[in-house]
Amino acid sequence: MAISYCDWLPSQMSSSTLTLLFVLLGTLCSFIYFFSSPNRNKNGRKLPPGPAPLPIIGNIHMLGNLPHQSLHYLAKKYGPIMSIMLGKVPTIVVSSPEAAELFLKVHDVVFASRPKVQSAKYFTYGGKALAFTQYGSYWRTVRKWCILHFLSASEVECFAPIRKAEVGLLVESVRKVAAVGETINLSLAVAKVLEEMMSKVLFGRSMDDKIDFKPLVDEALHLSGVFNLSDYVPFLAPLDLQGYTRRLKKASSGLHEFFDKMIDEYQQGINMDDQNPYRSFFQLMVSMLDTPINPNDEDQPYIFGRENIKAIMVDMVAASFDTTSTTIEWTFTELLKHPRVMVALQKELESVVGRNRMVEESDLPKLAYLDMVIKESFRLHPVAPLLIPHESTEDVTVNGYFIPKKSRLLVNTWSMGRNPKIWSSNAEEFFPERFKDRKIDLRGHDFELIPFGTGRRGCPGMQLALVNMRIILAQLAHCFDWELPDGMLPNELDMTEKFGLSLPRANRLLVKSTYRLIA
Ligand code: HEM
Repeated sequence: MAISYCDWLPSQMSSSTLTLLFVLLGTLCSFIYFFSSPNRNKNGRKLPPGPAPLPIIGNIHMLGNLPHQSLHYLAKKYGPIMSIMLGKVPTIVVSSPEAAELFLKVHDVVFASRPKVQSAKYFTYGGKALAFTQYGSYWRTVRKWCILHFLSASEVECFAPIRKAEVGLLVESVRKVAAVGETINLSLAVAKVLEEMMSKVLFGRSMDDKIDFKPLVDEALHLSGVFNLSDYVPFLAPLDLQGYTRRLKKASSGLHEFFDKMIDEYQQGINMDDQNPYRSFFQLMVSMLDTPINPNDEDQPYIFGRENIKAIMVDMVAASFDTTSTTIEWTFTELLKHPRVMVALQKELESVVGRNRMVEESDLPKLAYLDMVIKESFRLHPVAPLLIPHESTEDVTVNGYFIPKKSRLLVNTWSMGRNPKIWSSNAEEFFPERFKDRKIDLRGHDFELIPFGTGRRGCPGMQLALVNMRIILAQLAHCFDWELPDGMLPNELDMTEKFGLSLPRANRLLVKSTYRLIA
């Protein structure tokens, strides 16, 4: 029996009452839709398009294990300026160079802050460092100071002997393994050389004998990269459902105790490396303990206390240990997957350097193909695929969309690197020659390729990172021929990514090598 929609209505209801009821219901539904729609805020202003959020968690359930990839597919549906809710946090996801330019250049000052997150609360005393510090005069002062005393071109130049010595040791160790025909874990070897280099420029010494240090750093890197629910649904924070707060407290107090001990040692002149002709960044900071970092600014002096020093050191270690090694690991993976590119790179090295000697830093400016290889690697494997989250400091309208104050901004450079509209139909292919006639540099002027970010929050360590990368890659490609172990074919190489503070390979890169220099 067919039932009409009126069958369940009270029979005595008049048609005018019915009409009124439907009008009221309709209005109520439109109101509910209007205010709960992801594309309208409370005042009815138009937000960027995006998927409908669920109560409490918003769109968190859509992120999966590889959020940059999930957001890439969502952007195909909703466009290059997309709006999602991460828990209670309104979030804008940008996935095209044009949109990135709007947010990171035209409106850079509005989006130049960082959200307050749990990891910064514990590791850097609520943001007394750089990377997760709110926009303002403290951040500006510390950033300027770190660039001047550690990351400027002239400082980076000073560390050249350290790079030379450490890369020399890497070549020696690979050569020894090659001589007995064994497989080498290249991921570990590269991570180790970078840790040594960075320890020497940051602390003036190797940290190899400090057995507590590496596990603490690993835990800090892990906890800074995990998706912590407390950052997005603050009322759940006291419950610590994922157990991260407990771990953050333990790791941060371990790291701070460790640095306290080192500050004491430096002050007493213990464990100083007399062979080291440089005053390391850490030594310089300790020598300034309890003095103003900006003595010329009488209005707002910032005193360099222990907490500031420890916070800045945590930031520098976190920013430098994993990032460069991850990029080298991916670049090498692509070189092994594309033997044609490896051969072309070795040919360039042979013609610039010759087979009789190792690469010197003075050779690097002549290695144009190496630069193309590095750009291509950054395009497909950006270390920070969503940059570091930015946060807006005021309401703003961008491209006709209303973006409320305290919105989070994620810039999906991974998605931009795979867009066929920018990189043509072979966007998924590793093809360094695409940069031959395309004048794109990495400094953030060209929004198609911004692996170091750009604008006020762009990476201040870019120069140091690039020279480290270039010399290690050039030396390894020049000194050795490489092959995959156990007869593995290049197209069988595992390319799985693992999302965290950086985006490394999920599995270690194992390879075999043969020494190829004549000397
Ligand atoms: C391949 C290596 C590296 C890559 C790809 C990289 C990339 C990035 C990216 C994408 C950002 C965030 C930009 C943004 O949010 O807009 C960043 C920030 C930062 N990087 Fe790097 N980085 C690298 C190496 C380094 C090194 C070696 C250092 C220093 C020793 C460093 C120090 C920093 C700092 C302090 C920030 C925070 C800047 C701020 O918020 O003001 N980075 N980096």
